[in-house]
Parts: sequence; C-alpha cells; structure tokens
Amino acid sequence: MAEDPGARIQEMRAEIDRHARRYYEHDDPEIPDADYDRLLVELRALEEAHPDLVSADSPTQRIGGRPNPVFTPVAHTVPMMSLHNAFDRNELRAWAERVQRRLGDRPVGAYAVEPKFDGLAISVLYREGRMVRAATRGDGRTGEDVTGNVATIAGLPRRLGGSGAAPPAVLEVRAEVYLALSAFEALNQRQRDRGDKPYVNPRNAAAGSLRQKDSAVTAERGLSLWCYQLGAMDGGPRLASHIETLEWLDSLGFPVNEHAARLESLDAVEGYVSDLEARRHDLDYEVDGAVVKVDDLGIQAELGADAKAPRWAIAYKLPPEERSTELLDIEVSIGPSGQATPFARLAPVFVGGVTVTTATLHNEDQVAAKDVRPGDTVIVRRAGDVIPEVVRSVLSARPEGSAPWAFPRHCPVCGQPLRRDEGAAATFCVNFGCPRQVRGRIEHFVGRAAMDIEFLGEKNIDRFVTDGLLADAADLYRLDFDRIAAMEGFGAVSAENLRASVEASRRQPLHRLLFGLRIPEIGQANARLLASSFETMDAILAADEDELAAVEGFGPIIAAAVRGWFDDPRARDLIERLREAGLQMEAEAAGGSAAAAAPQTLAGRAVVVTGTLEGFSRDQARSAITARGGNSPGGVSSRTFALVAGADPGASKVNKAAQAGVPVIDEAAFERLLETGELDMGGPDGGEAAGGA
Ligand code: IVH
Repeated sequence: MAEDPGARIQEMRAEIDRHARRYYEHDDPEIPDADYDRLLVELRALEEAHPDLVSADSPTQRIGGRPNPVFTPVAHTVPMMSLHNAFDRNELRAWAERVQRRLGDRPVGAYAVEPKFDGLAISVLYREGRMVRAATRGDGRTGEDVTGNVATIAGLPRRLGGSGAAPPAVLEVRAEVYLALSAFEALNQRQRDRGDKPYVNPRNAAAGSLRQKDSAVTAERGLSLWCYQLGAMDGGPRLASHIETLEWLDSLGFPVNEHAARLESLDAVEGYVSDLEARRHDLDYEVDGAVVKVDDLGIQAELGADAKAPRWAIAYKLPPEERSTELLDIEVSIGPSGQATPFARLAPVFVGGVTVTTATLHNEDQVAAKDVRPGDTVIVRRAGDVIPEVVRSVLSARPEGSAPWAFPRHCPVCGQPLRRDEGAAATFCVNFGCPRQVRGRIEHFVGRAAMDIEFLGEKNIDRFVTDGLLADAADLYRLDFDRIAAMEGFGAVSAENLRASVEASRRQPLHRLLFGLRIPEIGQANARLLASSFETMDAILAADEDELAAVEGFGPIIAAAVRGWFDDPRARDLIERLREAGLQMEAEAAGGSAAAAAPQTLAGRAVVVTGTLEGFSRDQARSAITARGGNSPGGVSSRTFALVAGADPGASKVNKAAQAGVPVIDEAAFERLLETGELDMGGPDGGEAAGGA
C-alpha cells in the first residue's frame, strides 16, 4: 500500500475503477457492495484532505459505469443521479443538519422513506400515454436503450389511461428493476440443470437479464420493478410531495412499493430502518438500505443536487447481513507463505447477496475464543471481507456430546508438523518444500508485477508441481516444452505461448526479479529501492545488515529480514540457478532483443478480438498477437487483417467486419493463424463461427 497520499489516491482510483468495471460492465463483482462503498468513502476522505489532488476523472466525481456499446445510446434529458450514503445514525443526522442549514429557519417538513431496492435504475418514457422507450442509467447522462426487454416486465403498463383524466403528453418514470428472490432461485436452478454457471446474486442476474439481446430470454427471467420517481413530465397533475407522486403513479397502474412511508421526525426514520432491518428477510426482493427523502417537492427543487447526487435524499445503508446455518466441519488451509488458517465448511446459506459455503475462522485463538464446533448452528456475517466470517455459535442448538475443536498438529498438505511461535497468533507449515508453498512462491514469481509470465495459471502450476516439473522458479527456465505440448489440455500453441512468455521474462529488470523472489519485507517499492541502491545482485548478496539498513526507508528490521533471507543456502542456490538461466542480475540492463522470441507470424498485422475465447483471456489473446509482431486494436477497420470472434461477440465489431470485408475467424482458426500466419478458414463453413448478432 502506498504511503504517499498522491500515490495512494492513484492506487485507490485504479482499484475502484477496476471494481466498477466488473460491476457495471461485466455484471461480475469481486467484492460486496459494502466494501465498494467503503473504498469510495475512504477515497473521498483522502481527496477531502488533499483537495489539490482531486481530478475530474476520479470515481468520486462520477455517477455510475459506462454504457455498453452494443445497445443504442439514450441521452437522459434529466440526469439519472446517484445517492450519497449514510452508514449510521450519526451520518443520517449530519445529512439532516446539512439540509436544515440550507433552509435556514424554514422547517424541512416530513420525510418520505422507502426501501432501497438492490437492482438497476431504469427510465421508462411514455408519450400520450404509450410506453415508447426504456433506458438504463448508464453513466447518468447516457444510458442504453432496453425498450424491448423492459416491455417484457409484467405489471409495467404499456398504455396509461382508463382513469378518466388524459395522461400527460410526456411522462418519464424512474424505477428499479429487480429479480425477485423466488425468480432468482428458479433461474439458477435452470442454469444448473443446463450445466451453466449460476448467477452470484439477484442483482447481477437482473442486470444480465436486462441486457439480453433476445427479449424472449428476458421474458423468461421474470423481472419485476418498483417505480419511485418522475423524470421529465409535460402535463399531468400538480404534485406537492413525493408520497403524493407515488400515490399518483399507483393510480396510473405503476408498481409502487407498499412500504413507502411519510414520517415526521428523524426518530421515526430510525425506527423505520430498524424495522426494515428486522423484516428484510421476509421480503421477496433484496434491499440494502432505506432511501430517506425530503417529502416536499418544492423544498427538493430548492435544495437541488451536487455533481453526483441530490441533496434532498440520502441512502441509509443497512449493516452487513447475518444468517444462521450449520457448521459442517472445521478445516485448515495452507496459504502461499505456509500460514495455516482454520475455516468453517458451512451448509450453503444466502447472506449479503451471495451463497456462502465457507467462512474464515482466522486463527487458533479465535476458534478457541468463539468455541465453535463441527455440528454447531452458527451465525455467519458477510462484512468487510470478501471471505465471510463466523460470528458465534448458537449454544442453545448445540448437539449433545460435542467437544471443542483442536487445531491439527500436522500440515494437511505435506503432513509435516505445524509450528506456532511463542507470542504469535498464526500457525505455520515451516516445510520449505511443502507443495502449497512451492506453488505459492512460483505463483508470485510469474505474477504480473514480478516476472509477468503468462499462460501459466494456478491450475497448471499445481499440476507441474505435482508432476515434478517445477520445484522452484528456476525450473521454469528448464521446462521441456515438447513434453508440455503433449500433455492433456495443452497443445503446440499453448506450449509455444508459454515458452515465448518464459523466454521474454529472462529480460525482466532486476527489481522485478527481486520482487518475484518473495523476500520478506520486499514489496514492489522496496525491490526498486534495493535494485537502485546496489545496482547488482552480487552487491546485494555482499551487503551487510548496516549497508542494507542504510537504504532509504529500510532500517534495521527490514535489513535483518532481507539479510536473513539471502543467507539461507536455499536462496543462494536458487539465485545461482536463475543466474545460469540468463536472468538479469544487474539494474538497468539494456534488455536486448537477442533472446529467442515467438516466430513473427503476424508482423505488421492488426488482429481484433471480440467475445469470450476458451483458451485465452482477452489479455492473453492480445499478448499472443503482439508477441508475434502483430497488434490488436480495440476496433475493426478496413486495415484489420482478421476479427477473432469468441462466444457472445460484440455485434458492432462483427457488423463492421462484414461491411469492411474483414475475415471473421473462430478460436481454432486463430490458433492456426498464430502458428502459421495463414488465414485458413477451417473448411467450407469457415468464417461463420461468429454467427449473426
Ligand atoms: S430515488 C437521484 N429511491 O439507488 C436518485 N433510488 O444509489 C434518486 N434506488 O440510482 C433515486 N431504491 O437505482 C431512489 N427507493 C429508491 C431506490 C433507489 C433503489 C437506487 C437507484 C439509484 C441508486 C442510487
């Protein structure tokens, strides 16, 4: 983690952007929403403390994700904003005070409070009472046209009227689209029956359903929605309050949630939120908080909005969820550093938006303090960690005759004794040759920030270690690629890709090698310091503790750890074998291009990739192209040599390729292209793998 606030801010923005892309663009979040919110809160606080570092492209200045290019863009005439969050009652009170300060001595009046539905915001437009368009929020200014898909939602009126008064000429309704929990379970059951991956949570399933290219698929999913706001309106009644607006929408036949309430005081709002928390599991949809709004629409207009969210509303987030389930067993996992961590195997339980089957128990003392036992009914919380936590056992439900759990004495991976040092909380497997640790060290060595060796995922490392091909990082440079090419699941192309990537890594600079060695206390920044201070591996090997401690920012603790690591004969031996393999042992080496590289089958050619390939991630496909002298731009043009289309390709790219006469090839043809540089379309049906869009 960076110390310097500027660097930390950059680091956090990159991290938040990455999570935002996973959430908004891929519907595949890696962390719970609560963690994402917390990251944003932390970043905002840092930026507030360093206003000179705020920039327009920071995620704190943005409303949502970016629109997906496959659907037609729709400009929102009234921006679709986000909401600011309050995480506890103090933050709620602080919001109310800010509102009151803006109003001076005029009373705020009542609050309108309703659940915060965990779905996706949409805008539905009616002209002369007919539904004409529906769009997603997108980045708040431009969303995507999803009319066909929204039209499949049961309960959303396609035509207004019948109640006597003529409908407004223009009416834009804002709503949250969601998948009911019962529909979510049914969908995942169908996914499993078909052998497809289940969705992680209802929100992602709803997002995926809304973005289907085939509305028939959306219809099958059974989406629902709650209407909660107006956007643009021309005509219609004069509405004075939010609750009145909801009542009017209800009278027009729009689905409006029955838990919306008009409350006169903040105490009443807090009571509402406690009730909601207690009843959240009785609802057939997910809620992640309550939205508190100033009820009076005149005051709302006066308060206005900042760049991101209205000032007249706040999202009061509920605390992390807790659920109970059965603890089936306690096991110990061994981490890459040898740390032995106990964890609970649980009967599957839906908590915090995902189905949980394991939860960490941290360490031996924590298990003892909580006295959780196999067979217990336990309370599980999904809080700050991606990994959920066991809070406690329900003692009243403990089976008779159960005994406290005892930490195992031996490593479950290699069988060697485990060790816990005096005064330390953690227990370790200290067997340097334990396969889990060997794997961990190699995973770190090949990692992107270290030697950046691609085409060697965790599974393959595991397999190579088990098969005796890899015992340490130096073995990477002695791999028999012919043998690998003949292994099941490999082939000439993947073995060649791996060889090219291993070759290229020999030219990585010294600081990356130092980082890759996983020396204690040596992260990326310290690895750079070591390399620039001593310039050669030999100088580092020869340096004593005082010299190491003199490196800026090091001091005696880091110096001792580094010295201790380099003094281990196994480390010395590894370094000598890496030297023999031709790795850079000096800083700022030229890194010449003499070393063998992949055959330049694509020299000067542009190959564009779209959709999902089975054997390559998007990055791997690009690297495979560039390693062969080609380039891989993001879009198709008449200069494109070929478009590689995997599963679910981008329609605009496929259409463009058809217009520009660019060959569209499938993954098998892509592999042949990499190998030979030739466009062989794989027989009479060749070139149609991508299909229509
Ligand atoms: S009112 C200016 N009411 O929360 C935005 N939003 O985090 C006013 N949401 O984009 C929105 N339930 O998608 C409102 N009862 C509710 C809501 C709600 C969920 C969503 C909505 C919004 C997001 C902001």
